Amino acid sequence: FGPKLLAGISLLLTAGPTREAIDPVRYISNHSSGKMGFSLASAAAEMGAEVTLVAGPVNLATPANVSRIDVESAQEMLDAVLPEVEKNQIFIACAAVADYRIADVAESKIKKSAEQMQLALVRNPDILASVASHPKRPFTVGFAAETNNVEQYAKGKLERKKLDMIAANDVSNSNIGFNSDNNALSVFWHDGVTHLPAVDKQTLAKQLLTLIAEKVRTK
Ligand code: PMT
Repeated sequence: FGPKLLAGISLLLTAGPTREAIDPVRYISNHSSGKMGFSLASAAAEMGAEVTLVAGPVNLATPANVSRIDVESAQEMLDAVLPEVEKNQIFIACAAVADYRIADVAESKIKKSAEQMQLALVRNPDILASVASHPKRPFTVGFAAETNNVEQYAKGKLERKKLDMIAANDVSNSNIGFNSDNNALSVFWHDGVTHLPAVDKQTLAKQLLTLIAEKVRTK
């Protein structure tokens, strides 16, 4: 890999899960460990980029030469990302953002009562789509976590969210994707596709960033 392919480029990325509070002691979340996003942040810094990493709650050390902003909820992630958009030439959305949050977060711990209970959920803002529709949008790369019809759903997200590129992973395979040390990606852009086979997330991060660097330079 060209070691400094991203020299002089600033890159913003999201990583990890979000947590949506139910009450002061409970939340809804998902299995994202942050490993894929942190590998991208670390590899991008090694390749010379100036990296800002907006991270949901994860148990990972901040990679060298990366500035990190910690958040919990999707709304906090959006609020952290938006002021950074104009300063960056590349945005990568690797976070597993909760699509819904609790409509009314309880102020005190919810007590056990009936046999069944229901939680009303409302849609969260879409961080990736907000960045992609920004007037000074960076080169915008989404991820797609799919369990079926991977190519069809990923291409749908590429078009609908108006992205430059999307990296799809098949999260029905427990050897890759969420929380695993390895991953495999099918990367789509408007007139091309490439498949990056299963390998450790650090190596995969370098491969994806090399591809992004080529596209950014020829854009
Ligand atoms: O963290 P790891 O354990 O290493 O696992 C890595 C991963 C599987 C989480 C990662 O590779 C991955 O696929 N991240 C995207 C997960 C996801 O939420 O995918 P999605 O298909 O639901 O969302 C599509 C895209 O929109 C993603 O880029 C997501 O960041 C973004 N999005 C989604 C919803 C929302 N409200 N805002 C967003 O920005």
